[in-house]
Amino acid sequence: MEDIEALKNSIILAISETTSPDGLEELRVFELGKSGRITNMMKSLGNMREIERKIAGKELNILKQSVSGAIEKKKQSLLESKINEKLELERIDVTLPPRAQTIGKIHPISQTIDEVVSIFGEMGFSVAEGPDIEEDWYNFTALNIPPDHPARQEHDTFYLEAKSKGERMVLRTHTSPVQVRTMESSSPPIRIIVPGRTYRCDHDSTHSPMFHQVEGLVVDESTNMSHLKGCLIEFCRAFFSIEDLPVRFRPSYFPFTEPSAEVDIGCSITEGTLKIGHGDKWMEILGSGMVNPRVLENCGIDSKKYQGFAFGMGIERISMLKYGIPDLRTFYDSDIRWMRHYGFRCLDVPTMVGKAAR
Ligand code: PHE
Repeated sequence: MEDIEALKNSIILAISETTSPDGLEELRVFELGKSGRITNMMKSLGNMREIERKIAGKELNILKQSVSGAIEKKKQSLLESKINEKLELERIDVTLPPRAQTIGKIHPISQTIDEVVSIFGEMGFSVAEGPDIEEDWYNFTALNIPPDHPARQEHDTFYLEAKSKGERMVLRTHTSPVQVRTMESSSPPIRIIVPGRTYRCDHDSTHSPMFHQVEGLVVDESTNMSHLKGCLIEFCRAFFSIEDLPVRFRPSYFPFTEPSAEVDIGCSITEGTLKIGHGDKWMEILGSGMVNPRVLENCGIDSKKYQGFAFGMGIERISMLKYGIPDLRTFYDSDIRWMRHYGFRCLDVPTMVGKAAR
């Protein structure tokens, strides 16, 4: 009996050490083949006395089963490793880059958003988003634009069909509702930048019913107008890559900011060509102001403790100015020739003043 156990262990060890299917087959024939070792041992059972035969027969059957089981298992694992080896050898690297001429282009709107986000990202802003289909409260009322306010007419709003209670959802006319959503759901300090689609019922060479804006919002205990100015001057100079770009703040009015200012940048127009930088002309590029304390209160923020500033700008507009794109409507034509001309290589890094030298 002990002999059989020892024999079993030695055969199992031999099986486990086999490294090829041929070697395994040789081993199988040697043990279990027609005149194999185990087969012969079984044949010799006939010469035994009945009582011995019973015991030895049982032992030998177990031995035979374990050996053939181990061989079968080993066979499978040798087969698997052969397949894996083959797969490894025949591997095709599908991640190889395609040839440069064949790559698609990044749309100037996406590129401009990336640039704006990366400039404000460097200043410590994080990106926030909100829905395109908005409640009246977020788009207007919470922003200090009550139902009878004249500013509502200026927004050329797209309204959706009234719900059962008579409320009508709107396609957001600006990204400012995300200010409200953020102030409602988080507490100061807040520093967010909000790129997104906006909608107004207006269509000509300088207006599209769908366009893009970027909103900015900062709220903290000591946030003031000088922070607003510093932040926006820095942004304009970085975005247009002009270190001494003239920037002007002009008093304006928005219901949700008080005081409010529009921001202009210096430019010149010679022989019909616009040049950003210096000159005797000013070009308006964004709206801004200190968050109206009423808006803070509407969002559950204590206006005695906190103040903030906000700004908003049209992406298409700043993109047209920076990249010399003359007609707004061409942004949405999906014209491949236009994309080849104005689009960006996909691995281009957004430009920023002062960063290139690093
Ligand atoms: N929401 C304003 C617009 O669409 C822009 C703005 C945003 C102005 C934030 C001031 C502060 O014109």
